[in-house]
Amino acid sequence: MNHLSVHNLTGIRGLTENDLELIFQSATEFKEVINRPIKKVPSLRDFTVANLFFENSTRTRLSFELAEKRLSADVVNFTAGNSSVKKGETLTDTVNNILAMKVDMVVMRHPHPGAPQYLANKIDTSVINAGDGTHEHPTQALLDAFSLRQKLGELAGVNVAIVGDIRHSRVAISNILCLKLLGANVRVCGPKTLIPKHIASMGVEVSHNLDETLQWCDVVNMLRIQLERQGDNSVPYFATLREYAVEFGLNKNRLDALNKPITIMHPGPINRGVELSSDVADSEHSIILQQVENGVAVRMAVLYLLAMRR
Ligand code: NCD
Repeated sequence: MNHLSVHNLTGIRGLTENDLELIFQSATEFKEVINRPIKKVPSLRDFTVANLFFENSTRTRLSFELAEKRLSADVVNFTAGNSSVKKGETLTDTVNNILAMKVDMVVMRHPHPGAPQYLANKIDTSVINAGDGTHEHPTQALLDAFSLRQKLGELAGVNVAIVGDIRHSRVAISNILCLKLLGANVRVCGPKTLIPKHIASMGVEVSHNLDETLQWCDVVNMLRIQLERQGDNSVPYFATLREYAVEFGLNKNRLDALNKPITIMHPGPINRGVELSSDVADSEHSIILQQVENGVAVRMAVLYLLAMRR
């Protein structure tokens, strides 16, 4: 099949292997485009995309906006901070007002899990989830898998560890779903308090020992402690950030103790000195900036393929 099986990208859940292949194929072509002196193609001319960001974002918002502009789409940006949401307007009313201005596609980040799906059920326009609370962040998982494939080739049988605050991470959930679909072996690693019990039902291994996990894996994806999503917890998830870094932070000593190179990933923003030391983040085995570069190409692919579905 040469078109996506879905009209919206609300999560990796619901995508097929064929969908992933289509997105990666198209991202490879768009990556070539954005490395040319003239980085623009007319694929989405006369097409308007609204970026609705109800939660803070730097790289995801910029990455979507660049992807849209490289495809020649018209772009409108909305951030909740300076909008009528503050005056008590409902989500549906906000979005219907934006759609009344003839918008063709919506990219949405929202602190509530399920908000993009809720919207997709209510409107005809295609919706792309740019991160919904602790639920999913599909384009991040797609760009992570795309970056890994560019580095390692096929991912079937590759051992990938996802380390850190699994409990509050939409990146972890989307990555697990995507990597499993591609045949990789996935292990999550972190303190007991930050790994939800249900995670094993997603077909992943669970470990609380970073050094042992590093021995096992070919790739490690280090996650940030998502303090802003941990709510007002009177009982903290770990004693201090310093203690967390000693047990679960990746540093040069730990890597040097392995007799093999491993690929290091991070979705950003990095808390240097907590989950990753600076020398590791900037080392030759880190593909963190390639992930950012590939993010634009992968988002161009998703926007383009969903627009073709309409
Ligand atoms: C991630 C997110 O927003 O969930 N960041 C991102 O999209 N680049 C991860 C994070 O915030 O730690």
